[in-house]
Amino acid sequence: MRKPIIGGNWKMNRGTPHESKEMLESLIPLVEGINNVDIIIAAPFTVLINAYEILKNTNIKLGAQNMYFEDKGAYTGEISPSFLKDIGVEYIILGHSERRDIFKESDSLINKKLKKALSINLKPIVCIGEHLEEREAGKTKEIIEYQINVTFKDLTSEELQRVVIAYEPIWAIGTGKTATPEQAEEIHIFIREILKKKFNEETANMIRIQYGGSIKPINAEDLFNKENIDGGLVGGASLQANSLSQIIKAADNSYR
Ligand code: 13P
Repeated sequence: MRKPIIGGNWKMNRGTPHESKEMLESLIPLVEGINNVDIIIAAPFTVLINAYEILKNTNIKLGAQNMYFEDKGAYTGEISPSFLKDIGVEYIILGHSERRDIFKESDSLINKKLKKALSINLKPIVCIGEHLEEREAGKTKEIIEYQINVTFKDLTSEELQRVVIAYEPIWAIGTGKTATPEQAEEIHIFIREILKKKFNEETANMIRIQYGGSIKPINAEDLFNKENIDGGLVGGASLQANSLSQIIKAADNSYR
């Protein structure tokens, strides 16, 4: 069975040392002792060092939300993966739809970042997902397959097994409009089918696929109870310790 993974993606929120400390110190006791879920907080760069100190002896791991694919050099404003690794970052979100849509990141750029992350043992959480118009035009699976083909190009099965995929339908992000558990499960199954074709059955069965998009305490359990949904990537509801801890507990309950 795959261990569920819950990522709190704070996006460009909780970015001051004070507010992040307050949130993390509230969260730690609420999720203490939960060992059947990998718990990640993907915080803004400005608070990573402080967050590392706060989280270091807990069951909560640290993540970042973006990186460049080079370690060093004349890349004004970019962030080096090895700098992140050096300060204790363990997970890295790559290809979030906000990076793709607002900052025009392409699948091939994400592929370069992914290879770099794997080469230095950062654990990638790679986001894929379709826009509303694409879903309405019946193109969801086509889009997902294309994203997988380009984003995971030239990876070995061993490398892919170290990746977490987050299926985040863009129409469900920050809209309050969650995919139904059935809609999400259908695409998670489809993702495994593609991976089985492109890599092999073992890899397709092993890889963890999170769902993301308006996860709340009220809908978390039904989503995580689906066989192919291995936890979630949570935006809005990850900003409060109380709501995030309820979602983490729902994932813990689903792991039986
Ligand atoms: P919301 O949970 O706010 O919809 O955000 C989802 C998301 O983008 C997580 O990466």
